[in-house]
Amino acid sequence: MDSFFRELSAIEGADVRADVPLRERTSFRIGGCADFAASVHSSEAAASVLRLCRKASVPCFLMGLGTNLLASDAGIRGVALTMGNGLVRESVEESEGTVRITLGAEASLGRLVSLMDRAGALGFSRLAGIPGTVGGALAMNAGTRGGSVSEFVEKIFLAGPDGLSDLPAEAAGFGYRSCRALDAGTLAAGAVFRARLGAQEEIEAERSAFREAMAKRRVTQPAMPSAGCVFRNPEGNSAGALIDGCGLKGMRVGDALVSPVHANFIVNAGRASSGDVLRLMREVQAAVVRETGVRLEPEIRLIGEFQLGGLPEGARVLEDLAAVRETR
Ligand code: EPU
Repeated sequence: MDSFFRELSAIEGADVRADVPLRERTSFRIGGCADFAASVHSSEAAASVLRLCRKASVPCFLMGLGTNLLASDAGIRGVALTMGNGLVRESVEESEGTVRITLGAEASLGRLVSLMDRAGALGFSRLAGIPGTVGGALAMNAGTRGGSVSEFVEKIFLAGPDGLSDLPAEAAGFGYRSCRALDAGTLAAGAVFRARLGAQEEIEAERSAFREAMAKRRVTQPAMPSAGCVFRNPEGNSAGALIDGCGLKGMRVGDALVSPVHANFIVNAGRASSGDVLRLMREVQAAVVRETGVRLEPEIRLIGEFQLGGLPEGARVLEDLAAVRETR
């Protein structure tokens, strides 16, 4: 592993560290150590990391800001990859009542929202308060009840071992909290977003809708460490309302707690382990199926080493990017 670390550290445009605690890199504040963490600042560096991992048979996982992830207590045997600054240059262009905003995958979704706001664009209130990066938001098609990020995507820039390519939004296969093109280990380096510019009155209305959504979020969602909503909303229903209806708020395994504020959040009330969270997720699924017949499917993704037997139904472990590439 020493020589792998040396080779990884030698890649130009990659900042590399060894033994990085994932609890410091996830909003859940849970997770053991990643053998290595690499932050890349160019598509070439991203490609080189993937190539080296493939050559050395070392797994590589794309991590982002870790806002929608449950990291394993056992950590990651391999590389936790983050897209750093400079993969795509930020730009804002206005023409004929439309604004086009180009951002790198590492930018926060909040950056997109504030650039839309500044330009006088419409629709950004539907993205109010979504945490995480542009890359993560694309891969998850992150959203609120009002809408999702895919509504604003014009084009995605992909990065791979062979460099950069473009994908029009229509070819990306966006669905509810999913994006087919970014599902199988393909990296987004950035994207071009498009929104309609409003008249002064419409802009004021958009800004006040945004302020309202943020205020509502502060009241209806917990502030404790979490990974956001744990389960996807079943068709025509709300996972939070279902879990709440089963009386599960406050249900606890170790330090993992079904939030008393919003039942579709599990919060880390102290030193929760990933094992605590997984057991609580299974107990919530079992209770909801028993009481309502609805099978809740996890929205958060798992990262690292897990005992497959102990996973909640429908849980998805992030794929090893290097392995996915190899089998294509
Ligand atoms: N509700 C309850 N009890 C609860 C929680 C909710 O009865 O404990 C009820 C609410 O009163 C409301 C309904 O369920 O009538 C829906 O709740 P909410 O407005 O909070 O929306 P949600 O469907 O639970 C979705 C997204 C959130 C996003 C909010 C706000 C999903 C899975 N969740 O939540 O996204 O912040 O809308 O727009 O799509 C996330 O993706 O991580 C996330 C938190």
